[in-house]
Amino acid sequence: MKATARAHSNIALVKYWGKRSAALNLPTNGSLSLTLDRMHTTTTLEWSESLASDACTLNGEAAQGEAARKITDFLDLVRGVAGLNHRAIVQSFNNFPTAAGLASSASGFAALALAATKAAGVELGPRELSILARQGSGSASRSIFGGFAEWKRGEREDGLDSYAEPLPSRGLEDLSMIVTVLVPGPKPISSRNGMNQTTLTSPMYPAWLQTVQADIDGARGAIATGNFEDLGKIAEANCLKMHATMITTKPPILYWQPATVGLMHKVAAMRSEGLPCYFTIDAGPNVKVLCRAKDADAIERELAECAGVKETYRCQSGPGAYLL
Ligand code: DP6
Repeated sequence: MKATARAHSNIALVKYWGKRSAALNLPTNGSLSLTLDRMHTTTTLEWSESLASDACTLNGEAAQGEAARKITDFLDLVRGVAGLNHRAIVQSFNNFPTAAGLASSASGFAALALAATKAAGVELGPRELSILARQGSGSASRSIFGGFAEWKRGEREDGLDSYAEPLPSRGLEDLSMIVTVLVPGPKPISSRNGMNQTTLTSPMYPAWLQTVQADIDGARGAIATGNFEDLGKIAEANCLKMHATMITTKPPILYWQPATVGLMHKVAAMRSEGLPCYFTIDAGPNVKVLCRAKDADAIERELAECAGVKETYRCQSGPGAYLL
C-alpha cells in the first residue's frame, strides 16, 4: 500500500483564473500549458491502518494549516474512490521553491493523485487521473500530461468533462522556458483566494471571460503549426489580461515587484534587438520567458544580470506524471 510518483510543474500560456464551482474545482474558462522538465515534485505515500490521522511532510517539514487541510480533503476523495478507511503518510519533495507562483500545487497534486491511487490499488487512466488531480488544484489537471496540455472548461455540473488532454504539436520541440526566481518565498495571497476575489469584484473580469476562448483557440493553432511568434504573443497578452483583472480586484492584487516590471521591459528590449522571446507571469512576481533553444543561453545570461534575479531555471518540455 505504498507508492512513489513524480509529476512536473506546468506553466500556463493561457491562464486559468476563476472557478464556476469551488466544491468541484471547476474553472470558468479553459487553459493551456507547457509541462517543464526541470521542476518537479516527488511524492511517496503509504496507506496505514494504524494511523489516527494523515501525516504529511513537504520538503521534510510537517504540512500546516491550509496546506494540510487541502491534502487531507484530497485524500478523502481518494479514500472515497478506493473504498478505504486508512490514513496516509505522505512525504513530498519539490526540487524548486514552493508556493511562489512556480506551479508547485500543479506538480504536487498531480504526483499525489498518482501515488495515492496506485498505493490504494486503484488504476486510473490519464483522463480520470486528470479529473482527480483537478479537485486538488485546478492546474494539477494539466501536470498529468507532458508537453502541451489543454484543460477543458467543461459544461457538466459534475465536472466529468473538465479534464486536461495532451495537445498535438509540430515544430516546437526546441521551445525553452527560462524561469526567473525573484522572490522565492510564498506569495502574499494564494491563487485560490485571489481568483475568487477577482471573479467577485473586478470590473475587467467579464472582458477576460469574453476573450479567453479566442486565446485558447489561437494558442492551440500556433502549437499545431509550430508558430512560435504567434504562441508567444498570445501567451504574453493573455498574461497581461489576467494581471489586469487581478490589479482591478477590490482590494487590488498586485503580484508584481519592481524587478518583475524590469524584466518585462527587458524582454521587450531583447525582442527589439532581434532575440525572439516573450514573457508570462503567474500569481507571483516571478517572470517566465519563452524562447527558442538556440537563443536560450544568451537570453538566460541577460536575464540573470537583471536587478532582483536570484536564480534562473532553464527548462524545456517535460514528461507527464509517472511512477518511480
Ligand atoms: C495563475 O491551480 O493553483 O497559475 O485550483 O485553487 O488550486 P486552485 O488554483 P491553482 O491556480 C493557478 C493559477 C495560475 C494560472 C494557471 O496555472 O493556469
